[in-house]
Parts: sequence; C-alpha cells; structure tokens
Amino acid sequence: MKFYVTTPIYYVNDEPTVGHAYSTVACDVLARYHRLRGDDVLFTTGTDENALKVLRAAEAQGLAVRPFADKMADRFRQQWLALNIAYDDFIRTTAERHRRAVQRFFEGLYEKGDLYLGKYEGWYCVSDETYFREEELVDGRCPNPECAKKVEWMSEPAHFFRLSKYQQPLLDYIEQNPGWLLPEFRKNEVVNFIRGGLKDVCVSRRSEWGIPLPPSIPGSEGTVVYVWADALVNYLTCAGYPDDEERLQNYWPADVHVVGKDIFVRFHATLWPAMLMSAGLALPKRIVAHGWWTLGGKKISKSRGGAIPRPGPVRDMIMQETGCTAGRAVDALRYYILREVPFGQDGEFSEETLLVRYSDDLANDLGNLLHRLLPMIARYRQGRIPKPTDPDPDLHPAALAAVRGWEKAVEALDFRAGLAAIWGFLAAANRYIDHKAPWSLAKAGDDALLDHVLYSAAEAIRIAAVLIAPVMPDTASEIESQLGLRDWQRTWSQASEWGLLSEGQQTGRPVPLFPQAEPQKRAKTRARASAAASTPEETKMISIKEFQKLDLRVGEIVGAEAVPNADKLLKLTVDIGGEQRTMVAGIAVCYRPEELVGKKAVVVANLEPATIRGVRSEGMILAGSVEGDEKTVSIVAPERPLPNGARVS
Ligand code: MSP
Repeated sequence: MKFYVTTPIYYVNDEPTVGHAYSTVACDVLARYHRLRGDDVLFTTGTDENALKVLRAAEAQGLAVRPFADKMADRFRQQWLALNIAYDDFIRTTAERHRRAVQRFFEGLYEKGDLYLGKYEGWYCVSDETYFREEELVDGRCPNPECAKKVEWMSEPAHFFRLSKYQQPLLDYIEQNPGWLLPEFRKNEVVNFIRGGLKDVCVSRRSEWGIPLPPSIPGSEGTVVYVWADALVNYLTCAGYPDDEERLQNYWPADVHVVGKDIFVRFHATLWPAMLMSAGLALPKRIVAHGWWTLGGKKISKSRGGAIPRPGPVRDMIMQETGCTAGRAVDALRYYILREVPFGQDGEFSEETLLVRYSDDLANDLGNLLHRLLPMIARYRQGRIPKPTDPDPDLHPAALAAVRGWEKAVEALDFRAGLAAIWGFLAAANRYIDHKAPWSLAKAGDDALLDHVLYSAAEAIRIAAVLIAPVMPDTASEIESQLGLRDWQRTWSQASEWGLLSEGQQTGRPVPLFPQAEPQKRAKTRARASAAASTPEETKMISIKEFQKLDLRVGEIVGAEAVPNADKLLKLTVDIGGEQRTMVAGIAVCYRPEELVGKKAVVVANLEPATIRGVRSEGMILAGSVEGDEKTVSIVAPERPLPNGARVS
C-alpha cells in the first residue's frame, strides 16, 4: 500500500522553532510507522520561498533574496537532519519542477473558466500573506489575533479564482466524507467559515518575486502567482505533477496533510480542495490540524522575538541536564512533543515538564526495564539469551494490547493515546519482573522458570523497541543492539510475534539508555515544573489517575452564617456522611445563609485545610458561574437524591 504524508512547507524568513518541528516530527512518525508496515511511503516537506515576507526578510539582512532563501532552506534541512527526520523529498518552491507544476495547474484553472481578470482593491497582511476584506479587519489591523500587524492597501489589476463556485460542492463533500477533516471540532469551524459565504479570491500579484503566471493567461505580464496558491501546489509537485503521470497515479491523492490550526480553515480545508476540484484532481484523503505549542500562552512564533525554543538548543539542553547522547536527546524531544498534549490542542512548552517526562517515562519506565534485565542475563546466563519459551500469559497479551492501542490511536492521529498504550505495556513488563523476581528464582535454583522469565522479559523489550521505533528511532536501534540483535531487519509485524530472540545470542554491553540527572537537580526540575503547571493554562490536561485523587462527595449544608468583615464569604457546616465539616465558600453574593440550610452540594473532601479570614475551612463546596460574572454563582448538586457522603466520580 502506498502512503503519502506531507508537512506544511515552511516560510524561510527565519529559522525553525519547536512549533515547526511539531508538524515535521508528527509526519516523520507516520512515515516511519508505515515504512515499518512495509508500505510504499512518500513523506515530503520543504520550504515556501516565494513570499513577500521572505523578500522583506532578505532585504532586512541586506541580502539578495535568492542566496538568502538558499541559506535558509539549508538551515531547515540541517535542523530536520538533526531531529532524525527521514523525509523522502524536500521541495523548495523556487525549484524549476515546482514552477512547471504551478504554471500547468494555473493553465488548468484558466481552461476550466475558474480564473478571471479583475481588479484587486483591498488589504493584505504580509506577515500572514493573506488578503482581507475591510470588514474582516480588527481595528484596521490583521484579524488574526496572534498577528494583529498593520495591513497594506493594495490596488491593482489581478486574477481571481472562482472560489464562490465551490461553496456548495465543498459543503457537500464535507458532509459526505466524515473523518476527512480532523479533529471534528475544527471541521465545524470550516463548515461555519464556508457557510459564512465564500468570495472569489485574488490569486495573482504584481511582483518580480514569485512564479510568473503562465503567458497563455491574458493579463499575466508582470504578475506572479499569489504565494498561497503557489505553496499549496507543492503537494502535487512532490507527487510528480505534471510531468510524471505514473508517479502521480501512484501517490496522489495524499493520504494525510498535517498542518497547524492556523492554516487549516482558510487554506487547507477550503482554498486547496476548491482548487483541486477545479483542476479535476482527487482531494487529499485526510487533512489534520494540530494545535500550537505556546510559550506564556502565546503561539511560539519566529516573528515574536525573545527566547524562542528551537530544536537544536532544546536538544543541547537535554544533553547538558542529563548527560545523555545527542540521539537520545533528540528522541526525548520527539517523545515529549507527541506525548505531552493531545494532538488537536495547544500545549505550553516547558523545559521542566520535558525533563520530568525524560526522568519518569524514559529513564524510569523504559530505560530501567532494559537496565535491570541485562545485568541479570549477564549474571545468571553469561550474557546469553536463554532458550525460547511459549508466550507468557502474564506478558504477551499486554504486548498485543499495546500494538492494537498504537495502531488504533495512530489511525485517529492520536499520538498521545498511542504512546500511552505503549507505556502501559512497559509498566506491565516492569511489574512482570517485580512479580516473577528472577533474583529469587536464581537463589532457589529454579533454572527452568528463571530461563522462562528472563527470556520473556527480553522478548518484551524487543517488542517495545519495535513499538517505539517510529517515535524514537535512535533508542530503538540502541535497544536492539544491547539485546545483541545484529543486522536486524525491523518490521511492524515483529511486534505481534513471540520468540524471535534466538537462544545463545550474546547480549551487548549494558549502557543506560537515559541517564538520570543527580537527585538534587531532578528535585529542582520537578519544583519548577509544578510551578509552571500551576500557572493558568487553558488546555492543561490531567490523567484519570490525577482526577481520581480528588475525594468528591455529596454533602448536606446543615448550617450557614456570614463571615464577619467578608462580604462574599459564608461559613457553612456540611454533613458529609457521619462527619460534619466547616467550609468557607465565596457564594454570599448569590445565596443567603438561611436558604442554604438543607441544600445538597458536591464537596471536595480531601482538600488541605486552610484558614480563611480566621475561619478554618476543611473542604470546598463546588459551584459554577459564568466567567467574570459573580452574580451567576450556582452550587453544584446531585441531579437526583443521594445520601450524604455518597462518592462523586
Ligand atoms: N508557508 C505556509 C504554509 C504553506 S503549506 C502549503 C506557512 N508557513 S509557516 O512557516 O508559518 O509554518 C506554518 C506551520 O508550522 C504551521 O501550520 C504549523 O504546522 C507549524 N507551526 C509553526 N509554529 C507553530 C507552533 N508554535 N505550534 C505548532 N505548530 C506551529 O504557514
């Protein structure tokens, strides 16, 4: 099966950030996973160079635009190399093959009658490279809140693409193809945007920098293709359009376009499919929008200035803090950006949380698993893999569950869940060693069982290496080499098999995969991470385990009185089932004490006591309100009668 996956192509006005690395790593993981499955993979990335902002960035550095673009495209290539990104094709929009593709594509639009000459009068945001109508501006500036830059007035003859014609076909297509646009909530944004009315868009500009409109199109002289219309066509160029019909047949349509949410609605989910419809070409099978990595709640952006997290320096920081190798630090970064937040959501980037993941998930769960096993094989079996035994029912099902968990999650582009499934298996493997206690078996001289346990644990690690390989290729190879697998051809199906390690195989020298920083350093990191986590973040996620730490119960308010000198506070006595607690609640604006007595409410029963205005509060009653409007406070109560002390979960 073929699998064609694309990253956005990045503007070369500055160097890549961790934000760009996010899209690129996600695609690399998909590509590596499909290669492991034996698919014929085409994974493309590249640079978007024909933009006005690239021209301006070159000017600002006093450089001619071409050498500037060459230099920057190289920087992107180097960064991706450093991150172990195994793309198949790197497209630059200044390349000759792309010029041919764009010009042929535009001839097609023109022949279809979807391109016409008009006059463009309106606003242009150079930073976003987007045309805006007057009414779309916010305070006369770019309406994208992350940009909000000054817009420029443009008035010139220009070519328009009949986007309006595709309003209904696009809506129909979206309806008939569930799962085409992901995640679902962003699909709704697209539908609303299209329903709001699609106007024809300007797709040419009078400029010297860019791909000239084909001469066969009237009025093309002195004009270049609008940078977005040019950039989107890169996905076709990489698939062989227009010259290599066979390649195009094989790879087009793309299986997945991965993009950030900023370029999803207007460009990838609207303009691009409309242009493809016009050209009579198939639409990409899926278009997926991920959220942003933020810093201080704001999108990490190269034009924002300040200390921007960039892939190289972040890798170096990990090496410095932990003493691990470059390959392992890269893997840690790749793991972190896919594990930390759900793919569609924003996530706050923090070196501290990254180092905590390193320590907990990589050093402890994964690294230790290998590192406790190999010395035992060395000690009890002279470093040789024992005789293969049947799959252990205490371990093998967990491996199969992880394989299925990853497959299912990746199909839904949910890397976080996929990794959680794999880590569930690692936990099971660690528990297996704990429970089977090979050291006791050795002491008791139970050789047969010891062989079985050592072999099974080694198989578990071999399987783990396959599972993590798409995300952490360097670590996977290191594990295989420590297990003594030489010239090993890794495939995905090996993850579901058992008994592939051969008897007598000499294991390699055990070297810690993920060395731990000293305990003092680790403690500091944790303290910083929890401080970072306590700053408000709109999308901070917690695990079910963390949620279960809350002891939520049904309580009955049996007494209520005002707190002296505190207008908003009430002192409540709450019966939580055989126990009465005092709780201070900020609900006096909405409730009088007398109306509260007898009411039920959900309370947090295991909150650390605190003294508020001289009153010791031993819990908290839950209440909701419309944000910013304290007059709307409403106590949260069970919908049907429940006894005092009933658990809420
Ligand atoms: N050149 C256009 C894309 C054309 S695609 C046909 C462009 N380039 S960009 O350099 O601005 O990069 C945009 C992409 O980089 C985003 O869509 C996203 O995939 C990624 N990211 C850049 N910063 C990001 C974050 N802070 N967080 C997550 N991803 C972000 O737009």
